[in-house]
Amino acid sequence: MIKKGIILAGGKGTRMSPLTKAVNKQLLPIYDKPLIFYPLSILMLAKIKDILIIVNKGQLNQYKKLIPNGNNLGIKISYLEQDKPRGLPDAFVIGEKFIGKDNVAMILGDNFFYGQNLTTKLIENTKLKKGAKVVLHKVQKPELFGVAKVDKNNKILSIKEKPKKYLSDLAITGLYFFDNNVVKYSKKLRPSKRGEVEIVDLLNFYRSKKQLSAHLLGRGGAWLDTGSIEDFYKTSSFVSAIENRQGFKIACIEEIALNNSWISKKHINNSIKFYGNCDYTKYLKNLIKK
Ligand code: TTP
Repeated sequence: MIKKGIILAGGKGTRMSPLTKAVNKQLLPIYDKPLIFYPLSILMLAKIKDILIIVNKGQLNQYKKLIPNGNNLGIKISYLEQDKPRGLPDAFVIGEKFIGKDNVAMILGDNFFYGQNLTTKLIENTKLKKGAKVVLHKVQKPELFGVAKVDKNNKILSIKEKPKKYLSDLAITGLYFFDNNVVKYSKKLRPSKRGEVEIVDLLNFYRSKKQLSAHLLGRGGAWLDTGSIEDFYKTSSFVSAIENRQGFKIACIEEIALNNSWISKKHINNSIKFYGNCDYTKYLKNLIKK
């Protein structure tokens, strides 16, 4: 079982400037909570309790104000800084000590997942022992994404970043599961023309060894990456529609911790004090009313 996870939550946020000039993208709101809660909730749903959050140099204090540690969630949160956005596989070089001898999951800080049976599927993926696994989702404009072609056993045959010629309509999302070789392989990567080490190159390492497989998030699942201002508003509307209709929240990290029996009412009360008088707090109060 994979027990460690990394959230890569730095980045330039160029497309969302000026919003991201002073505040990191992952701290901006998706409807009623900061974006970082969503990828964090995904790792928690996968029963991952040891989490490293990688943030931009100079932004650690902002994050610590929001999530000082994992105490009220019954998990362990550590932080490391990335001095500049060197690319996604840089996370495994920065996180080498954190990873140690274990396998690891990684989620990009700006990725949003929602769907039926998601928890079961996530847990299934944490059973990975050898190789790497990526989560794929069908998209209408594959030319805008990194895409993967798979065989009927969900082995990945080829992958390509923003293909001009059609290869597949399955986009590579920002959720990955790796064996421990990921550190060694990431260190071997050299920056591409745009000056970053590329996740596609890392995945190709695994593919060339026939060790790269896919998990397909079916049509009942939603994957949204929140890179632009328009994406932020669309994702916010999605969350608002579901939460207001059903009356329960997406990515309430305290609720997930409580359901996983990682915390008790006492911890929820601490969180209530921490957040103060707001709608999120009302929701937390309701959780422990019974
Ligand atoms: P990107 O979408 O590649 O970049 P970005 O968020 O900086 O935005 P923009 O393209 O508008 O400049 O990054 C995907 C996620 O990964 C995002 O959450 C930021 C994070 N990231 C890092 O933390 N470090 C990195 O080196 C890179 C490349 C991304």
